[in-house]
Amino acid sequence: MNPTHCIAVRASSGTYEVWCGRGILARAGVQVSRLGENTGIFILSSPRVWKHWGPALRASFRGGSKTILFDDRETSKRLPTVERLCRQLVSTGADRRAVIVALGGGVVGDVAGFVAASFLRGVRLVHLPTTLVAQVDSAVGGKTGVNLPEGKNLVGAFYPPRLVLADPDALTTLSARQYRSGLYEVIKYGVMGDAALYRYLERRLDDLLQRNSAALGWILPRCIRAKADVVGRDERESGLREILNFGHTFAHALEAATGYNRFLHGEAVGWGMIAATQLAVAREMLPEDEAARIIGLVLRVGPRPPLPRIPARRMLEIMRADKKTRGGHLRFVLPQRIGRVEVVDDVPEQSVSRVWRELPSIARAPTSDN
Ligand SMILES: NC(=O)c1ccc[n+]([C@@H]2O[C@H](COP(=O)([O-])OP(=O)(O)OC[C@H]3O[C@@H](n4cnc5c(N)ncnc54)[C@H](O)[C@@H]3O)[C@@H](O)[C@H]2O)c1
Ligand SMILES: [Zn+2]
Repeated sequence: MNPTHCIAVRASSGTYEVWCGRGILARAGVQVSRLGENTGIFILSSPRVWKHWGPALRASFRGGSKTILFDDRETSKRLPTVERLCRQLVSTGADRRAVIVALGGGVVGDVAGFVAASFLRGVRLVHLPTTLVAQVDSAVGGKTGVNLPEGKNLVGAFYPPRLVLADPDALTTLSARQYRSGLYEVIKYGVMGDAALYRYLERRLDDLLQRNSAALGWILPRCIRAKADVVGRDERESGLREILNFGHTFAHALEAATGYNRFLHGEAVGWGMIAATQLAVAREMLPEDEAARIIGLVLRVGPRPPLPRIPARRMLEIMRADKKTRGGHLRFVLPQRIGRVEVVDDVPEQSVSRVWRELPSIARAPTSDN
């Protein structure tokens, strides 16, 4: 049995705990009761997640919970869903002292989090993330929100949870593709600030791909600590938090250019990390051998949908319209070495175009890890 970890996250509203360990989901009832009295536990989840993990969670509340299910496709992550959920909370009797438990991946967490932030101007929120992306990323840090037809995550709130319960066993029912998508974000943490995590991934990637529980038990708390550390120091992304966007300038453009239906987010981040690595090499800020290690590890995670044929100028247009762009300058998080990145805003657009054009061949080239 792996140990259970408890990681404290600093937020402006107070410190909250992230518990990570096997079996924690079935003990949620006890954990939530530590938050103090409540007038009702309202579990917000999706039918798919509920089918796998709902009964165990409900049993932990000994019958004292209500369940509201909603579709967790990315296309449902929008304001009408928020309104419907708020109305269902009213009709099922939720008041100011209710606790909302978000059971699911990033979509459930973002929507339920925004509902918790808005309903009666805010009720307590507990995240129970069930995807790898949600456990290492979206459940920690307090970003909640929904999409508009004009773009992703354009309406939302910073609303830290009171508690996060990450159970690696929940990942056993995830599809292989969804699971791999999360591994790209795990690699991101290594490059961004943790060379030891990176070396571990190089050694144990095959075990991780098999969802080996000891390996998962090692990386999950490590990634959660990395995220907790960054958001604890920069809750509202005024500076440091930007480093979490390694690989994301290209990734967001790629997702937007393909209508959000070709790549899973992590897969786009995989491509984006390769692109950012190449940009860093072109600026001579990253040694080639380190670049080969990054690209090699990303490729080892497995197949990503191939890159679409989109002209470089179109990609640049999308990047210029991104939230991350400031004063017309594209912003990239580029690696200096494995374990250290830098935010830059002076990458010439020709370099971006060149890397975009060369990306398919970079991904095909043999690397030491392949
Ligand atoms: N708030 C943040 O800081 C933050 C960070 C990263 C991503 N996000 C958001 O998260 C969303 C992506 O989240 P995601 O990658 O977790 O995917 P997801 O929530 O879209 O879930 C992916 C699929 O897996 C299913 N699923 C979830 N858990 C399962 C389980 N244990 N077993 C079987 N199936 C399961 C879901 O029903 C869904 O079909 C995006 O909307 C993104 O914008 C937010
Ligand atoms: Zn991401």
